[in-house]
Amino acid sequence: MGKAVVLAVNGRRYEAAAGVEPSMTLLEFLRTQTPVRGPKLGCGEGGCGACVVLISKYDPATDEVTEFSASSCLTLLHSVDRCSVTTSEGIGNTQDGYHPVQQRLVGFHGSQCGFCTPGMCMSIFSALVKADKEDSRPAPPMGFSKLTTSEAEKAVSGNLCRCTGYRPIVDACKSFAADVDLEDLGLNCFWKKGDDRADVRKLPGYNSGAICTFPEFLKSEIKCTMQNTNSSPVAVSNDNWYHPKSIEEFHRLLESNWFDENSVKIVASNTGSGVYKDDDLYDKYIDIKEIPELLVINKSSKGIELGSVVSISKAIQVLSDGNLVFRKIADHLNKVASPFVRNTATIGGNIIMAQRLQFASDIATILLAVGTTVTIQVVSKRLSLSLEEFLQQPPCDSRTLLLSMFVPEWGSDGITFETFRAAPRPFGNAVSYVNSGFLARTSVDAASGEHLIKDICLAFGAYGVDHAIRARKVEDFLKGKSVSSSVILEALQLLKETVTPSGDITHPEYRISLAVSFLFTFLSSFASSFNEPVKVNVTNGSYTKGAGSTVYSAEKHLKVDSNDLPIRSRQELVFSNEYTPVGQPIKKTGAELQASGEAVYVDDIPTPKDCLHGAFIYSTHPHAYVKGITFKSSLASQKVITVITAKDIPSGGQNIGSSFPILGDEALFADQLAEFAGQNIGVVIAETQKYAYMAAKQAVIKYSTENLQPPILTIEDAIQRNSFFPIPPFLASKPVGDYNKGMSEADHKILSAEVKLESQYYFYMETQVALAIPDEDNCVTIYSSAQLLEITQSVVARCLGIPFHNVRVITRRVGGGFGGKAMKAMHVACACAVAAFKMRRPVKMYLDRKTDMIIAGGRHPMKAKYSIGFKSDGKITSVHLDLGINAGIAPDLSALLSSTIIGGFKKYNWGALDFDIKFCKTNVSSKSTMRAPGDVQGSFIAEAIIEHVASTLSVDTNTIRRKNLHDFDSLAAFYGESAGEASTYSLVSMFDKLASSPDYQRRAAIVEHFNSNNKWKKRGISCVPITYEVSLRPSPGKVSIMNDGSIAVEVGGIEIGQGLWTKVQQMAAFGLGQLCPDGGECLLDKVRVIQADSLSMIQGGFTGGSTTSEISCEAVRQSCTELVERLKPIKDSLEAKAGTVEWSALIAQASMANVNLSAHAYWTPDPAFKSYLNYGAGISEVEVDVLTGATTILQSDLVYDCGQSLNPAVDLGQVEGAFIQGVGFFTNEEYATNSDGMVINDGTWTYKIPTVDTIPKQFNVEMINSAPDKKRVLSSKASGEPPLLLASSVHCAMREAIRAARKEFSVCTGPANSPITFQMDVPATMPVVKELCGLDIIERYLQSVSTNPTTVKA
Ligand SMILES: Cc1cc2nc3c(=O)[nH]c(=O)nc-3n(C[C@H](O)[C@H](O)[C@H](O)COP(=O)(O)OP(=O)(O)OC[C@H]3O[C@@H](n4cnc5c(N)ncnc54)[C@H](O)[C@@H]3O)c2cc1C
Ligand code: FES
Ligand code: FES
Repeated sequence: MGKAVVLAVNGRRYEAAAGVEPSMTLLEFLRTQTPVRGPKLGCGEGGCGACVVLISKYDPATDEVTEFSASSCLTLLHSVDRCSVTTSEGIGNTQDGYHPVQQRLVGFHGSQCGFCTPGMCMSIFSALVKADKEDSRPAPPMGFSKLTTSEAEKAVSGNLCRCTGYRPIVDACKSFAADVDLEDLGLNCFWKKGDDRADVRKLPGYNSGAICTFPEFLKSEIKCTMQNTNSSPVAVSNDNWYHPKSIEEFHRLLESNWFDENSVKIVASNTGSGVYKDDDLYDKYIDIKEIPELLVINKSSKGIELGSVVSISKAIQVLSDGNLVFRKIADHLNKVASPFVRNTATIGGNIIMAQRLQFASDIATILLAVGTTVTIQVVSKRLSLSLEEFLQQPPCDSRTLLLSMFVPEWGSDGITFETFRAAPRPFGNAVSYVNSGFLARTSVDAASGEHLIKDICLAFGAYGVDHAIRARKVEDFLKGKSVSSSVILEALQLLKETVTPSGDITHPEYRISLAVSFLFTFLSSFASSFNEPVKVNVTNGSYTKGAGSTVYSAEKHLKVDSNDLPIRSRQELVFSNEYTPVGQPIKKTGAELQASGEAVYVDDIPTPKDCLHGAFIYSTHPHAYVKGITFKSSLASQKVITVITAKDIPSGGQNIGSSFPILGDEALFADQLAEFAGQNIGVVIAETQKYAYMAAKQAVIKYSTENLQPPILTIEDAIQRNSFFPIPPFLASKPVGDYNKGMSEADHKILSAEVKLESQYYFYMETQVALAIPDEDNCVTIYSSAQLLEITQSVVARCLGIPFHNVRVITRRVGGGFGGKAMKAMHVACACAVAAFKMRRPVKMYLDRKTDMIIAGGRHPMKAKYSIGFKSDGKITSVHLDLGINAGIAPDLSALLSSTIIGGFKKYNWGALDFDIKFCKTNVSSKSTMRAPGDVQGSFIAEAIIEHVASTLSVDTNTIRRKNLHDFDSLAAFYGESAGEASTYSLVSMFDKLASSPDYQRRAAIVEHFNSNNKWKKRGISCVPITYEVSLRPSPGKVSIMNDGSIAVEVGGIEIGQGLWTKVQQMAAFGLGQLCPDGGECLLDKVRVIQADSLSMIQGGFTGGSTTSEISCEAVRQSCTELVERLKPIKDSLEAKAGTVEWSALIAQASMANVNLSAHAYWTPDPAFKSYLNYGAGISEVEVDVLTGATTILQSDLVYDCGQSLNPAVDLGQVEGAFIQGVGFFTNEEYATNSDGMVINDGTWTYKIPTVDTIPKQFNVEMINSAPDKKRVLSSKASGEPPLLLASSVHCAMREAIRAARKEFSVCTGPANSPITFQMDVPATMPVVKELCGLDIIERYLQSVSTNPTTVKA
């Protein structure tokens, strides 16, 4: 008989119910069988960090506890038997008080939607625990930990946050570091920058070890079990979890008759399931982590032996202690995955994945380079063979057990070892495009100083090859040679014959060029002739020149990385006391709850009795009849309870999944005909969410394309087949001036140039989710993570064929929306509602990340063709734009873009502006509005044109920008009434302040100097202005005062992380403040903004367009005004009798006097002021690695006119977060589809949002208040979307850097066929950048060097 799984969760004992499935993950257990909700499911593949917990193990022999962070979504429950698990609730909560990690994260404004926050807290907490256990470090000063600032920056390197832009999170983490200068930290609630001294005593006090991570009861239990099990060698359990204690036992298990390769899974720490998702349920597991031979760590003079189940983290620790080769391996391992994955991922598991499944492993490559041998056991045979031989064998079966790896000692005599990897993120959890490890033994000829290669090993992997390989031909060629440019060139040519990516890998040419870059970098370190004379100190941008300066070699370019620069920041904000407490940078309401994990999101609502779970089945075909759905026979398909399809829509209901007034509807389910890949065909219903996910994977859909037209997938297809959505006239923008006349005035013309922008996925951390609970009398309550509550209610009602008042939609908070929870959230709500109606049981659907990414739609991809006329001095006289926009299958909200694109584009005075916009109806998922929809593309296209003019005229781009900025008259001509008063037009002065400042000029000069002295890294700097039009719309609000004086506020807007509740809270306190002696400050804590409820607060409208916070505030202010009117007479009369009246006394009196203490308002904007303009400007300076295409953002300086901010901390968070989301759009986020239009970048593996290591190294934000305008809500301005546009400054700076490279290497690509005139599409990913720099620049360079060797001499 086996034993039950016992573990402690936050100090409480849990025993997993008998028969708990061995496939249950720790996350599933915590979320379904304990009250814990802090760990969230964000991806289920180890790629986001939302589920991070601290696991503690106790060793009774040494009486020691070891702690490490882990992703609970990959950790199997059985593998933490007798462990203690600490979650965010465990370190602090409402009842016991919050932990300083939580308090500081909140106080530094590091939580917005809050969905990532518990995971962030646990990553930070784990880093503190780890650092504080370092006995070799001195005790830190009071209030600090032993953590260093550089460790603090890496602590959250694997945690994704889509809201904040990371800067405040890093500051919170750094506040614990013993070596921090607290004055360097950003805006916080603990001291007022400038006025107050930063002092650790003002921070929530930190005491290492204050949290008990391993309870005594479990220690005793473990000791007790040890004594009892000594006599029992049985490695089997009654719940199908087997943990053999020896190799023999392992093999006995494999030989036994229950073993079946298809239903038994052999695991170490199971992180491989994040890479290769299980397609079916497994019912038996064999855990190999207790086999002693697999756990060895032997260090000797010959080398280091690592048992296969040694974790990557442990290996790093062991190797860091060794000589140079070992230390370099450790450095490389530090870039594999993320801290919380490395802690459980084993070295052996990685090698097996590389051998058996062609995994693009880093570890296999670098271990191959250093001559590693492996020991394997196949049944009773033990073999020792080289890693190379092992990798070359046919994929091993499950009977092969990898026992250990042996890495030989190389000494340091004449040995050079380097490893390389190029990945979309330097540290933050990204598999490499190519990785390599090179080991050489060389000698130096005393006379010539030349390096002679005596022996060399060159390993390459991940480039689209079955497994890492050695470039033997190149090795043989190099052996015995002195390194010179011609030798390197020949070696690289040979290498290109060896590194041949397989046909189906992305960017094959780029990968080859990376391999070339790596080898060149390595070899050139042996060739002194490649050294360059000047090194620019990247830290501060200053440079030293001439004799005595540090040599800057190509090798160092890759090694001394600007990525290693610390993250610094500066914030300059304007505070105003005019409307206190509005205007104060108070912390986000409820942020502590978010940090502790107690904040309730839809999936955190306790599952109602009898609840069922659903998962979508979607079409993989873009245009086909659906002939039937069957399921493969499998363990998972046995879990299917039913499948809901269009046929299950109740009679009287409609097949409708989303809708927007006037614009149109989209179907919920494909009814016989599937019209795009990713369209929902049905919902699999099962008892648990996991069963539903797994069962949906087993669905087999039968299609027929008989008599059907081929699908329309691209903009070109749509134009050819005339497939467009009409633009309602009231949404269409108007041209300005006379295009032909403008063209006739031009000295120069550019005709029909093109630039392309691809899509972007929202990547909200909480995927789409809804819970539908059927109620009496044909009613239903739906908890939905939705931005458009009112419309969700109406769509669900139409779908079910019931009156609107039968549907109650409730949203408390949304774990990130960014526009993605507008339309698609309705589909999920409707699907749940239909299923709940049919089953008469509650139904929940929480989409897995892949499905979410496939159905989401995302930003509109578009192609812009432009023709422009301009004068020789750079003044543009006329522009015509032809825009082809891929809108997908349904109208969705696409038509709104017709005005927003032009809105963003009109920031310059084009003279005359004409355009034609086509919304192409195609067979792909309908595109929707994503943060700054249209505006961001319009603004970018404007920059692309400005840049084109500048490069045509060979003039500095800023000169052209400045020349074409509006004066107020032209602004009014282009924007009409939105332009407002002349005094509010702040853009020109903002732009001048940045672009004409001496500081900018100095930095531009340094950039130029850097570029003329550095061949393989180039810098660029750019300043971009933005104008953003926003609209005000009606909005409801309700303020109710309870008898005890506490206040409940309801608004139409939804809290999606943008800080709406916080601003509303401040506004309510301000609005009622005239009734309080302190003006309302005392009311802040009394205000609770309550969840949005479509039946309680009708006409809620939608949350989007950046103005929802201010309009909700205005409705609240009106409600307060009404209450003040009712309460003022009572206050006056009480004051006449007793002097000052406290709030509670006033309310008690009013209640006694039967005053109506609840007021509702429906605010409508002044018809003469329904829109206004927002302005900002941003400088970005970047460094492009010409060899790899990687970009580091060295500095971004943003200036944003936020008016009189309602809450500067909230607005700062919006500015920073939006900017970083924009950086993702412009540089890294590839949301690609296959030839059927099906999304292929469908998880954290392939879709790379920015992480902490990709944000600007110096990130400065200044918020200004240009001119108060009382027509705006308390003179405030919007902040949610406009700053996203500033991220194009990064793209523009990249283009400047690339231009410098192209000039140097005379690279000409594209139609313009000139090094300086080229377009760079969006996103400018590493392959795109490298291609524009020239894939073959190294070869070109070496050829030029070989023919003219003197040119490279220092
Ligand atoms: C988010 C994330 C990011 C990652 N990033 C990188 C990266 O940048 N570079 C990189 O190289 N890797 C990366 N990895 C891969 C990671 O290193 C591996 O998942 C991990 O090392 C596998 O170890 P494991 O113990 O979890 O294996 P498991 O998941 O337990 O097992 C994996 C496979 O190996 C088999 N197996 C395990 N151990 C043995 C053994 N001793 N003998 C025989 N078979 C065995 C198992 O049966 C299973 O088939 C990443 C993984 C994740 C989840
Ligand atoms: S949910 Fe576990 S890492 Fe994303
Ligand atoms: S606060 Fe980090 S994802 Fe929203």
